[in-house]
Amino acid sequence: TVRGSAAMDEAVDRNRTVAVVGTGTMGQGIAQVALVAGHPVRLYDSAPDRAAEAVGAIRARLDRLVEKGRLDAAAREDAAGRLHAAADLADLADAALVVEAIVEDLAVKRSLFAALEEVVADDALLATNTSSLSVTAIGGGLRLPGRFVGLHFFNPAPLLPLVEVVRGFATDESAATRAYATVKGWGKTPVRCADTPGFIVNRIARPFYAEAFRVYEEGGADPATIDAALRECGGFRMGPFELTDLIGQDVNEAVTRSVWDSFFQDPKFTPSLAQRRLVESGRLGRKTGRGWFPYEGDAERPAP
Ligand code: NAI
Repeated sequence: TVRGSAAMDEAVDRNRTVAVVGTGTMGQGIAQVALVAGHPVRLYDSAPDRAAEAVGAIRARLDRLVEKGRLDAAAREDAAGRLHAAADLADLADAALVVEAIVEDLAVKRSLFAALEEVVADDALLATNTSSLSVTAIGGGLRLPGRFVGLHFFNPAPLLPLVEVVRGFATDESAATRAYATVKGWGKTPVRCADTPGFIVNRIARPFYAEAFRVYEEGGADPATIDAALRECGGFRMGPFELTDLIGQDVNEAVTRSVWDSFFQDPKFTPSLAQRRLVESGRLGRKTGRGWFPYEGDAERPAP
């Protein structure tokens, strides 16, 4: 294979700016990781004040790390000083890497990247944190699609080490290598994969949820029994029912539907009717106080 210049497949330099666009759950987590790794970090969100709020939330999280003795006070001050909100997309012009974590919508993501490409330098690396859309499709409209990759972090991004580095159809080898080296330098455990639906983890997790839901739908066992069996004997930290209550039934179902559709509605990935009813009735899991299980307050375990 033809390799790009050395600089193109080395990690993004620590003193170059990392921009994060979309500062919700994932954007904040990814920004925190880049910040603690030493980069100047700029946050942009289309919702007014959201990026400034995210700066406050990340600084508060750094404070908690100091309290827990996992970050020293000087490092906290240094990191906080490198974190800034951007009022406008044009303020991301000097970013060497942009990680997008906005709404999971192909058209919205494509138009964001088209606008970003007008702003950043031609050698800036562009990445999406999509969990279920095609990286190839998101980058398809770019003038320079070779520098576009998937960087799929898991929630919570500061804690979970895995990052899937996804090479789309048009992604240059050097861009994938550079993205891999960058997140590895951030202390993460990157794995490389191609742009297949659901990538690695979300794909292989589909039958884990689907078979559990089917056992329940067939009257095989109730959710608590299935969860307990998989926790106690399967070595899973959480069973599929409590885990989807944590993720959100709507979010989990949307990923299942996306993988199912991507494989031309292969019956192997057929969404669960019982889960559909949970979503329709607003029982989305912990966030609504009820999913497969009822929750009281911030109970860590399902209420009996
Ligand atoms: P979120 O809803 O918490 O945050 C999304 C943010 O993007 C919001 O602040 C919103 O105002 C902003 N936004 C929406 N459209 C925008 C635009 N056009 N330009 C700039 N900002 C915009 O969403 P979350 O959960 O952080 O997910 C973000 C992305 O990360 C999605 O692609 C999702 O599939 C992916 N993801 C989510 C995971 C999760 O567990 N929540 C895990 C891994 C990936």
